[in-house]
Amino acid sequence: MDFTGKKGLILGVANDHSIAWAIAQQVMNGGGICGFTHLPDRPDDERQRNRRRVSQLTDTCPNAAFLVPMDAQNDEEIRSVMTTAAEKFGKIDFILHSIAFADRDDLNRDTVFTSRAGFKLAMDVSVYTLIAVTAAAKDYLSPGASIATMTYFGGEKCVPGYNVMGICKAALDATVRYLAYDMGPQSVRVNALSAGPIRTLAGRAAGVDEMLTLYEHMAPLGRNVSHEEVGKTGAFLLSTASEGITGEILHVDGGYNMMGSPGRLLKKLAESS
Ligand SMILES: NC(=O)c1ccc[n+]([C@@H]2O[C@H](COP(=O)([O-])OP(=O)(O)OC[C@H]3O[C@@H](n4cnc5c(N)ncnc54)[C@H](O)[C@@H]3O)[C@@H](O)[C@H]2O)c1
Repeated sequence: MDFTGKKGLILGVANDHSIAWAIAQQVMNGGGICGFTHLPDRPDDERQRNRRRVSQLTDTCPNAAFLVPMDAQNDEEIRSVMTTAAEKFGKIDFILHSIAFADRDDLNRDTVFTSRAGFKLAMDVSVYTLIAVTAAAKDYLSPGASIATMTYFGGEKCVPGYNVMGICKAALDATVRYLAYDMGPQSVRVNALSAGPIRTLAGRAAGVDEMLTLYEHMAPLGRNVSHEEVGKTGAFLLSTASEGITGEILHVDGGYNMMGSPGRLLKKLAESS
């Protein structure tokens, strides 16, 4: 993917397993320059673990322009990231929003028992932050700029176990469509990549292990998708190669989402019974 002369932001790298890192690698391989953020460290964490995990990756990348802290729940910190990007880059050509969080207690309990506070927290971090980031970046985005976020099929259909995060992803998908409409006149695109299960920190918290087995049996491709495959499609959405696409939810899941029955899994179950 050609990112020659393109500069933008990658929000949501926690470590080398993060989907954001897989996408950033593809962008930087294509010549793109990336500014990164990390979750701020607690003042009492002398080892600065959050920063260190990301800087271990970015420090050796010539195309990593900067690494700054950002709590996406803090509007001031979001604004500060945009100012840094504008100072370093002039205009911003792409933004990856790869951020989600829900309290483990809420993720693990049936949706009917979701707490009010947990619902608000999950929606704020996993959905509102896309609006906040887009609004803060609005004046700095170049014409033709692309914003992409990460979603999951659990927002389209009920995926037991995904619980409150499924509700967040449904809201995120709708947010993508409304933002795509708002940003269209500025020639800025907003899309989401809906990835199949991938082993990451957030993925494990959302019960990815069970889903990996299911996808292996049910997805038409008969396997799970790789970090690299998700990385390539993420880069595609951030690049000018997708310049006619906006408001789209693009699935990279081996085809799992289009199945209307368990397919080959049925045969497998019949064999084992
Ligand atoms: N792993 C999967 O199977 C999968 C599948 C589909 C979609 N997704 C989505 O991909 C995105 C990235 O997740 P991942 O799987 O790479 O896991 P990850 O844990 O590597 O990434 C989640 C990121 O969210 C960040 N984050 C959480 N709260 C934040 C806050 N308040 N401010 C700033 N950043 C914050 C974390 O620091 C982390 O970098 C999420 O939206 C997730 O729901 C993941």
